[in-house]
Amino acid sequence: MLEVRNVTRVFGQKAAVDDISFTVEGPAFVGIIGRSGAGKSTFLRIMNRLTDASSGQILVEGRDILALRGSAQRQWQSDCAMIFQQFNLVPRMDVVSNVLHGILNRRSTVQTMFNLWSQADILRALSILDRLGIVEQAPKRAEALSGGQQQRVAIARALMQDPKIILADEPIASLDPMNAQVVMDTLKRINVEDGRMVIANLHTLDTARRYCDRVIGMRDGRIVFDGTPAQLSTGVARDIYGADASFNEAATSTAIPADHGPDDAYAAKMLA
Ligand SMILES: Nc1ncnc2c1ncn2[C@@H]1O[C@H](COP(=O)(O)OP(=O)(O)OP(=O)(O)O)[C@@H](O)[C@H]1O
Ligand SMILES: [Mg+2]
Repeated sequence: MLEVRNVTRVFGQKAAVDDISFTVEGPAFVGIIGRSGAGKSTFLRIMNRLTDASSGQILVEGRDILALRGSAQRQWQSDCAMIFQQFNLVPRMDVVSNVLHGILNRRSTVQTMFNLWSQADILRALSILDRLGIVEQAPKRAEALSGGQQQRVAIARALMQDPKIILADEPIASLDPMNAQVVMDTLKRINVEDGRMVIANLHTLDTARRYCDRVIGMRDGRIVFDGTPAQLSTGVARDIYGADASFNEAATSTAIPADHGPDDAYAAKMLA
């Protein structure tokens, strides 16, 4: 389904992403880990065409999405929705309008000027908010919500695009452990129930182990680990982060409580 072939991005003298290749079959939950500057965000930005690669190909269902131009490129950008650490909502706008902005590029200028949304679009936005457990927040301004609620609004906005792939750049880095858990559980549900691939840059090992089917470790632009959470030992993690023997996993922990509902079976399997 997804085949990344020798993708490189050079800024000046430095390769931020350095000849990376991997293949993902089916709608997996893929985590990308690595220390600051490893190239994680640059890779996601290349995937959704916010940044151009210097070389390489990314095949999605056999088509090189890095070669797309014009309307085909815009269609791809709508097929892979992006979620950011800082939510990127319009703070003073109400929640349901923020969600509707996920399909802004499908409307005419006149519709946009007069803020006209079809009833069907509004109902769909509300049903997505309902699914994510925040429909009662719909009329409020985005800025009035908690961080975890705002990130769920951003996920709802992404779902409004009906994307094939969700790209999440450190989606829980600004959240406390409880909200981090709700947001990660939400992404996992979308992955499992809808069969949408999720690729998430994650800054903590425990979260990567807990939620991902597949973990890719990057260091200095290169892939230095590609495997299952079970294969991600402390030694491997130390290597990814370029740390010495004093490396302590707690330093990269989100401390999501171990005993919660939907993913207990998954967590138990990981711990076994
Ligand atoms: N627009 C740019 N111009 C020049 N250098 C850049 C640009 N964007 C990224 N870089 C460099 O590329 C490297 C990778 O950056 P990137 O943001 O992808 O890392 P990251 O793994 O996402 O880090 P973090 O965990 O801090 O978010 C860094 O050395 C960064 O300084
Ligand atoms: Mg980053």
